Amino acid sequence: MDISSLPELSKAAQSRSILSLFSGNNNNRVENYSTSTAGLYLDFSKQNITNQELSQLFELAKTSKLAEKIKAQFSGDIINNTEKRAVLHSVLRAPTDIKHKILGAQADEVIATEQHMAEIVDDISSGKLRAASGEKFTDVIAIGIGGSYYGIKVALSALTSFHTTGLKAHVIANVDGAAVEEKLAKLNVATTLVVVISKTFTTQETLLNALAVKNWMLSQSTESDVIEKQWFAVSTNIAKATEFGVLEKNILPMWDWVGGRFSLWSAVGLPLALVIGNENFNKLKQGAYEMDQHFQNTPFEQNMPVLMALLGIWNRNALQYSSLAILPYDHSLRALPGYLQQTDMESNGKSVSNAGEKLTWRTAPTVFGQEGTNGQHAFMQLMHQSDDIIPTDFIVCLKGSSSLPEHHQVLVANCFAQSEALMRGKTFFEVESEMLALGVSREEIARLAAHKTMKGNTPSNTLLLEVMTPENLGALLALYEHKIFVQGVIWQLNSFDQWGVELGKQLGNSVLKVMNGGKNCVLSASSLSLIKRFQGLK
Ligand code: F6P
Repeated sequence: MDISSLPELSKAAQSRSILSLFSGNNNNRVENYSTSTAGLYLDFSKQNITNQELSQLFELAKTSKLAEKIKAQFSGDIINNTEKRAVLHSVLRAPTDIKHKILGAQADEVIATEQHMAEIVDDISSGKLRAASGEKFTDVIAIGIGGSYYGIKVALSALTSFHTTGLKAHVIANVDGAAVEEKLAKLNVATTLVVVISKTFTTQETLLNALAVKNWMLSQSTESDVIEKQWFAVSTNIAKATEFGVLEKNILPMWDWVGGRFSLWSAVGLPLALVIGNENFNKLKQGAYEMDQHFQNTPFEQNMPVLMALLGIWNRNALQYSSLAILPYDHSLRALPGYLQQTDMESNGKSVSNAGEKLTWRTAPTVFGQEGTNGQHAFMQLMHQSDDIIPTDFIVCLKGSSSLPEHHQVLVANCFAQSEALMRGKTFFEVESEMLALGVSREEIARLAAHKTMKGNTPSNTLLLEVMTPENLGALLALYEHKIFVQGVIWQLNSFDQWGVELGKQLGNSVLKVMNGGKNCVLSASSLSLIKRFQGLK
């Protein structure tokens, strides 16, 4: 059993209506196609799959040695084979005894860093640690990109109700100066803390942004020790961070076994912890740890990350759908689609196996999405009426975070309605009958009915969170981390490197070289002409 046999196994599904799976002896389908853990409930009954097909996927998981691979990850084996690294971001949210068991001697450094981070949060919150001006900090700028940005961003947005310390957070990621100046314009240098986050401390955008903020601070502040007093850094590259001018005692280490896109649980989370406090940051980690335990100890048939992963494989490799829509019906999760674009597509957007052989199957889907109900006024037309079927993950909280219950009810109603509409669609016959019942004339029906039909048969998951809390957010993020890991195992690829971003970086330097008068060695006539236009030369 391997992935290439999946299209054959999905012949029945390809000509089947999902709705039909709810009739006959399937009337307890919802009960059998749902599972819950760590504050989350997953309804996958609207997926186009039967017990028999699902059992084939569990077979595929077994032949992929998934159980062994899960153990290998959590034991610290070198599973990121191309970079020769372990993958142990999960240990950062595990209890101390597990840290010692897995990390050995390095556990002390990890625990000390956690303690140092907590002290910084407490001392800044209490006013013990103040700006060079002697004033309490009011704002923190987090400078970073990719995994040194998205996790902080998604958690800051999701946990707005838990911003308890009074500090306000601002994130700077894009190298566009407009993004930087927009943030700095709002800030008072005398009370602003900066956390520059870069695992490598070589990322061009982050270094340029950090320099701009440093220059802003030096030019605006009257204090000679403003950088020493108001800057922290998080990196594996202590030397580079020190060279930049951050005091060594203000540099929090990361480790190579924490991938950038999985690093929120490390000191990368400092800007978040500064805003939500240590207790809530620990609850975030606790929620993720609960999902880790579920993932490691639950039979695949009830294992939420495994189920989501296998359903994604079914949609991608059996039914051959090429996209995945992430639709959080929750304003606080508006940054989740962007976060999952990196976590999913940077992990599994590959075409060679662990061993470097060309894969003969497709891998990560194109992930997109935005908060609901906005998507209904953007791309849902395509999802309902184009010929492309786009599997969807709907995510919604049963209890809203606002004081407007009617708004929340409408939001949730739209979420449930969209998954139903995507599954059900509307046939020509149904449109005709509906229009007839409304007394529409035959010629109008003949003119419009075809335009009103919907293909339906779009599979979806609906994830319910009781309410948005640090624990539930932690569990949700860990759920997707593990889902993506499982898919990487089944696709037989390395989910933890990202060599594909290197070429763009190299050519970025080539373009800059030409822009600065250097000789062109590699760029096409198109790029050269674009550079000339940029430089105002025709
Ligand atoms: O996107 C490429 C990447 O290397 C990501 O994996 C990483 O999260 C991001 O760039 C930033 O890297 P760093 O944390 O080293 O600045």
